[in-house]
Amino acid sequence: MTPVPANVPANPVFVALDTTDLDYALQLAERVRPHVGGLKLGLEFFTAHGPDGVRAFADAGLPVFLDLKFHDIPNTVAGACRAAAGLGVSIANVHAQGGAAMMRAGLDAVKSTNPATRLIAVTMLTSLSDSDLPAMGIGGSVGDQVLRLAALARESGLDGVVCSAHEIERLRREMGRDFLLVVPGIRPAGAALGDQQRVMGPKEARDAGAGVLVIGRPITAAPDPVLAARDIAQSLGISAG
Ligand code: C5P
Repeated sequence: MTPVPANVPANPVFVALDTTDLDYALQLAERVRPHVGGLKLGLEFFTAHGPDGVRAFADAGLPVFLDLKFHDIPNTVAGACRAAAGLGVSIANVHAQGGAAMMRAGLDAVKSTNPATRLIAVTMLTSLSDSDLPAMGIGGSVGDQVLRLAALARESGLDGVVCSAHEIERLRREMGRDFLLVVPGIRPAGAALGDQQRVMGPKEARDAGAGVLVIGRPITAAPDPVLAARDIAQSLGISAG
């Protein structure tokens, strides 16, 4: 098993609160809080509730991954990253396809605002497959492009990348042990796949070298989200904190 980098929460599970219903999200966060290591708030939530919506989770006392995937000119991304880090989030992200100058501008803005915020990159969206690449002017496979963009993110100083479970081993091998791998598409045995195609169990992904496991519907859509979160934590050998 690859050692987990020291800068990763003991419980690697960040529950994805993909909703526009603020009260529901707050209640859910409060209920699953003892069994998860953090919360992930994305475009759906942020477009509805903005920075005040993020601040509303302060009382939950959990690290927040603000998954807004910035992709714009360096000056604009720097401004957005400064604002995200100013909210005190634990993880923010940008698209690696914005290029090295954009990633460095975002990173400088984050670290000068809140050195504790980690900035990671999205490489290729997992909704893309090899057959989509020629039309986008990209040669090679999705796997090759993921590796190229992850290397660019690391050279630009970023703290890690979002990747699919099946990219963990290769990225861990090529990027070294301190590069944070944040992994969605996690499904405990028996959970519905939903629209995720290539999934992995929580323990399998953690043991392969994932630092953060982003888990949404297997917790949020479970008949009992608290029980589901507790079972996932237990499968990772973690008891309620
Ligand atoms: O419900 P589920 O566990 O599939 O949720 C996964 C979360 O991770 C969602 O918030 C989704 O937007 C996000 N995500 C993903 N695949 C990516 C990047 C992010 O599923 N490549």
